[in-house]
Amino acid sequence: MGALDGKRVLLVIGGGIAAYKSLDLIRRLRERGASVRCVLTKGAQEFVTPLAAAALAGQRAHTDLFDRADEADIGHIKLARDADAVVVAPATANTLARMAGGHAPDLASTVLLATTLPILIAPAMNVRMWLHPATQRNLALLRGDGVAVVGPNVGRMAEAETGPGRMAEPDEIADAVEAVLAGSQEAGPPSLAGRHLLVTSGPTHEPIDPVRYLANRSSGKQGHAIAAAAAAAGARVTLVSGPVTLPDPPGVTVLRIETAREMLAAVEAALPADIAVFAAAVADWRPESLGDQKIKKGPDGPPPLRLTENPDILATIARRSDGRPPLVVGFAAETTDVIAHARAKIARKGCDLIVANDVSAETGVMGGDRNSVHLIGRDGTLETWPTMGKDEVARRLVARLAELGPSP
Ligand code: CTP
Repeated sequence: MGALDGKRVLLVIGGGIAAYKSLDLIRRLRERGASVRCVLTKGAQEFVTPLAAAALAGQRAHTDLFDRADEADIGHIKLARDADAVVVAPATANTLARMAGGHAPDLASTVLLATTLPILIAPAMNVRMWLHPATQRNLALLRGDGVAVVGPNVGRMAEAETGPGRMAEPDEIADAVEAVLAGSQEAGPPSLAGRHLLVTSGPTHEPIDPVRYLANRSSGKQGHAIAAAAAAAGARVTLVSGPVTLPDPPGVTVLRIETAREMLAAVEAALPADIAVFAAAVADWRPESLGDQKIKKGPDGPPPLRLTENPDILATIARRSDGRPPLVVGFAAETTDVIAHARAKIARKGCDLIVANDVSAETGVMGGDRNSVHLIGRDGTLETWPTMGKDEVARRLVARLAELGPSP
């Protein structure tokens, strides 16, 4: 028994390179027991043919609004009714705009305007088009109309750009169809539209003299991935980043700093925020001032390196009496007794949630692409996530923040 046994899906294929994945989606939906009828936009037919869609669906595909045979056979109003759900994949920026504006110049948009069935869209477009305020505005309107959204994912795109905009994978879309048909309004990650998210990321560099500094092995990958995922979920994002070699995540305001004290100043300047995530590996100490000139070797041997404590940025913000972000999330980088240390840290720092990870050398977390994290709540609740890519950790965390954070 497939999870979609007996269900009828009307699949609207939009005009984007991701249309090739929609052919696979037809198969995945049918494997789960659904019958699939396809409508292709004119743009879609530049990428895949109606014949291919029809062959995979096992029934003819529809393309024209004023097709005499079609209208005699089923008609666009019937198309809009004879299904259990409508899926738009890929949903291009143009399709979203038409849907949000109620325009109906072709068969696909007419069906979408005429239907009262649950609609699921799987957006796919260039990063900049996705992040454009017009697209985000259209998306917010559609969500308000009860349209469910799956994806887009963050990753490499056809134009060799990286960022949010890649269509969700066929299996993810099929899962979302199941969720929609099970009555869930929100198939994709909850939206952070209208909220300001502040993220710290990367190491800090603490100067010893004008040419030397103390640092740590943080790459900034996890913090930057969180900023990117939050932007993809519609948040306005400010990323305060120490020195890293990563590109700026698209659609994110990046404030670059070097030292812990500069990071604190930048964070305070970026407030107010609805949610603050402190993923930076801030140096706990900085060298006491050794002067403005390069320290030279001399007869007295190595210079004394005296350290002084840096401000704790997370604790400072979490303990503010005014302007504290309603949801403050810390990270705990531990090499032993990860959970016990992280539980102590949540109390010491005054944050609402801690993401604890084991950064001992053998885990390869520092600088690597994967992460194993535990989520610990203020009441001591613990969730252990399987090891996964830092992008996936970011997406899941952002989905949790959207649930837990303040409403816009
Ligand atoms: N943090 C911070 N400012 C600091 C030190 C840490 O904002 N000066 C934040 C980190 O961004 C992280 C959390 O505090 O969210 C915990 O950082 P971690 O290095 O694990 O803890 P420490 O405060 O350094 O505590 P310990 O030395 O006991 O591990």
